[in-house]
Amino acid sequence: MSRLCDVPGLPDLISKHGLEVFVETGYGNGDGIAYASKLGFSSLYSCDLKPPLRAIDNAEGAYLYFGYESAEFLRLVVPSLKSPTLFWLDAHFPEKFGAKGNSWPLPDELKAIAQKKWLDRDVIICDDIHCIQDPENPTREDGPGHDWEPVAGNIKDLISPFLATHTATLHEVSTGILVLAPR
Ligand SMILES: C[S@@+](CC[C@H](N)C(=O)[O-])C[C@H]1O[C@@H](n2cnc3c(N)ncnc32)[C@H](O)[C@@H]1O
Repeated sequence: MSRLCDVPGLPDLISKHGLEVFVETGYGNGDGIAYASKLGFSSLYSCDLKPPLRAIDNAEGAYLYFGYESAEFLRLVVPSLKSPTLFWLDAHFPEKFGAKGNSWPLPDELKAIAQKKWLDRDVIICDDIHCIQDPENPTREDGPGHDWEPVAGNIKDLISPFLATHTATLHEVSTGILVLAPR
């Protein structure tokens, strides 16, 4: 589990690509959206399967969807997004957080985002890439004793719909952070 502030060069990505909207999957305790709210976005969206321990006020430009599966939330919200957007995909392993749902929704989340209009202006950041048991994944971890589950699959398949418009950088920091940024 990485924090949004662990993403290398985040303020530069926001200014370089003129990102105006923040969309997070996995609200958790609200730390990510609280951090994002200081980065100059005009609106912020987040979702979680479960209600929060503490919530920020929707009137502050934040739209919070509790009781939603992350991919369902994205299918609902993405068609209304018209400004350059930062996606922070951080919803995994709900059972660890006392919730029930899809334990690895990242592939479905990326499919929902791939349908978006003007996607070529957006930045997409995926956390917890270390779970993916792709032999070519330099951040891969496995073995017992972790509070997360290894996940089958490979990174190339996940990101192939984006490569015509985006470059992919896998940062070997924290739990493995994948950044898709406009070319
Ligand atoms: C690591 S925490 C999120 C931390 C937060 N994004 C931050 O930056 O501070 C993960 C959250 O994702 C939620 N979650 C897990 N799987 C989910 C799913 N399939 N759909 C929606 N939320 C999910 C969990 O309930 C948990 O609160």
